[in-house]
Amino acid sequence: SQLPVIAPSMLKCDFGNLQRELTLLETAEAQVLHWDVMDGHFVPNLSYGALLIERVRPLTKMFFDAHLMISNPEKYIDDYIDAGCNSITIHIEAVPNPKDLLQHLDKSGVLPGLAINPKTPVKEIEPFLELCGLVLVMSVEPGFGGQSFISSSLQKIKQLKKLISEETILSVDGGIGIDTIAETARAGANYFVVGSAIFNQSDYSIAVSELVQKARN
Ligand code: DX5
Ligand code: ZN
Repeated sequence: SQLPVIAPSMLKCDFGNLQRELTLLETAEAQVLHWDVMDGHFVPNLSYGALLIERVRPLTKMFFDAHLMISNPEKYIDDYIDAGCNSITIHIEAVPNPKDLLQHLDKSGVLPGLAINPKTPVKEIEPFLELCGLVLVMSVEPGFGGQSFISSSLQKIKQLKKLISEETILSVDGGIGIDTIAETARAGANYFVVGSAIFNQSDYSIAVSELVQKARN
């Protein structure tokens, strides 16, 4: 995929009109669907799981990016691989030693991702960065869309940018919109998860192209 990537967070989509949402996102040239999976345990909210993702998989060619905000992801990870996810991101706070899981994803042909919460220091994920195809910096506390961007995330993005390889995707998730995307891009992010700033707009094409433009500046 082409950088910068805007990845719409499906948490905010209109599930009653899913087919229509997919068409609108394709028209907007979104390349990725970001699936926020929440278990009501790792985060205080419940969303959807592999069953739903698997049913949507045949409806579009877009890249499927699963963000697992769940405890014990090792129990469920194969369901998400089998559902046809192209990348799967697990949380360091859920798996203190994610080495085996990241390697399992890689061997399964899935881009391995590792996410870090706002309060977790970068040093916790540092030993595993070389196993990651994607690193996701949470810029809000995970669990809900529509929260405000936590500006201390910028420092973390800068720090990680220095530690990862050129090929590793650096993603930022939470509170990203027209007023915050540029500074995260300047800090080094190249893959932007966006919920409210797309789905709360009447025209997704305008929303996505404005975000891409801001991310390039
Ligand atoms: C939060 C999720 C995010 C969120 C993004 O737990 O990981 O992907 O839905 O939504 P906005 O862009 O509204 O912060
Ligand atoms: Zn997410």
